[in-house]
Amino acid sequence: MIVKELEKLVQAALFALAKEGVLDAAPVEHIAFEHPEDKKHGDYSANIALVLGEKIGKNPRELAEGIARVFPPAEFLERVEVAGPGFLNFFLSRAYLANELGEILKKKEKYGKGECRGKVIIEYSSPNIAKPFGIGHLRSTIIGQAIYNLYKFLGYACVGINYPGDWGTPHGKILYEVHEVLLKDKSAEEKKDILENLSIEELERLYVQFHKDAASNPALEEVARNWFKKLEDGDKEARMVWEYTKRVSFREFERIYRLLDVSIDHTIGESFFEDKMDEVIRDFQKRGLATESRGALIVSFPNEELSPAMLLKSDGATTYFTRDMANMKYRLKRWKPSLVVIETGVEQNLHFQQVFLASRLVGYAKDEQFAHVYHGLYRSKEGKFSTRKGETIHLEDVLHDAKARAREILDSSEASREFSENEKQEIAGVVGIGAVKYNDLSQHPSGDIVFDWDKMLNLRGNSAPYLQYTYARCQSILRKSNLAGPSYSHLNGVKDVNEEEMGVLRLLYRFPEVVEDAARRFSPNMVCSFAFSVAQAYNLFYNTHRVLEAETKEIANFRLALTKATAQIIKNCLFLLGIQAPEKM
Ligand code: ARG
Repeated sequence: MIVKELEKLVQAALFALAKEGVLDAAPVEHIAFEHPEDKKHGDYSANIALVLGEKIGKNPRELAEGIARVFPPAEFLERVEVAGPGFLNFFLSRAYLANELGEILKKKEKYGKGECRGKVIIEYSSPNIAKPFGIGHLRSTIIGQAIYNLYKFLGYACVGINYPGDWGTPHGKILYEVHEVLLKDKSAEEKKDILENLSIEELERLYVQFHKDAASNPALEEVARNWFKKLEDGDKEARMVWEYTKRVSFREFERIYRLLDVSIDHTIGESFFEDKMDEVIRDFQKRGLATESRGALIVSFPNEELSPAMLLKSDGATTYFTRDMANMKYRLKRWKPSLVVIETGVEQNLHFQQVFLASRLVGYAKDEQFAHVYHGLYRSKEGKFSTRKGETIHLEDVLHDAKARAREILDSSEASREFSENEKQEIAGVVGIGAVKYNDLSQHPSGDIVFDWDKMLNLRGNSAPYLQYTYARCQSILRKSNLAGPSYSHLNGVKDVNEEEMGVLRLLYRFPEVVEDAARRFSPNMVCSFAFSVAQAYNLFYNTHRVLEAETKEIANFRLALTKATAQIIKNCLFLLGIQAPEKM
């Protein structure tokens, strides 16, 4: 990555200044670089002279001038400038930018790809059985998959885990309802028949029903807890019903993942840890970390850093926390990751802080890094969606709507007249699903998402369709160019690069850096903003200059190379986001 090279040069310059006696010793701190908003300030800028000046009591402007004076020459740099109170501005050379263009064309989807970088566990999606696949799980699935893709691309060995909620008191609610409403007074034969034909909609209805019933009859909560206890104790009927509800749910989840074009390496649900929790409790007890409190067993944290977590309830039932501890023990031992990332809704943040800290206290974790990536709510323009009271929006309806709307837009476009019905359907699917995913990913995960069709499908805004459209436009130009494919050598004849071409060139090379930052900060939205700016820069260029009928053959070739590299980078970004790039649109 070029920014790393740049950092080395700044270090070398500081070293040279130290040798001259201007600095006492060259500092070894990390040097931060930014891409200045205004292109006139170069491709990178650094405030190191300001930081250092403040620290050692020297005039930052003079320090910056000193750095610029002794700056080692490098092919990738055209010049270094000092600006304002002591900013250093770096301008990349045309030779470097042209060379990167060639690299993109040569390496294609491998441009910026890394290798051999340690192991990362990424847990995402994790819906609950016998409940609808909610919009929160949709967010987790989309964001988690993008983070997985980013790390994988950077060369980490990634372990994707789906941890469905198939255990715990909510399942007592379902068991109660299935038992009371569906199976009561039925013969064994009839029961079997009913269970065999159980549908996800029915389960969903029962879940909603339970909450309605419990609102007028709070004692039902206790009854549900007892049902879960039965399940834990291995009651035959409870087990059988549970197996059926699990089957119906998993079938549904699989279908949704297919629709979303997502696949998760491992599915290990909460119930897998059912027989591993005694051990966890013993681990905590052995270390003197578990204490009794009003009949329950709890874990307190040193200096009350976090509120206590519960290992066993007063009725002896295990908790979500206990299972997550067993889960952590298992994962860390089995995969030995250097980083564990878990994606869920923001309301679980305290829970994961407890799980992460407790993992260290009890000795499951040593120097592994943990990250809880949390997402905000999904809101309609009117307010919030919720699954509890049954105001679920159904993912399938959303995707169906998205496709239909994408199809409408497509049908109104001039170009689509030449498309076959099959092509149109395929494009509408890719665009519709892309729009839904991108709408989520283009904002920082922790924020709330507003569901606004117009914005999602805006062909001129920061949307998947805009990027897909730009990609398809590039592909169409390349198809018309009748060239075997522009290559690096085509850049040789080009002497002058105009402002709009430069605008594109000065973005493309940043792709590897963007991926690195987006992964480190668990922010797929950074990939979106980058792709959007590439598309904007390209469209500005395209609207100002001719590609196919350019002034000379050399210029045409260069512009085709630019077009091809732009398409490649947009496609690579979309790929990381889990979105397809249509060849035509
Ligand atoms: N099934 C849970 C829910 O829907 C999410 C699981 C999160 N992961 C975990 N390790 N607890 O709320």
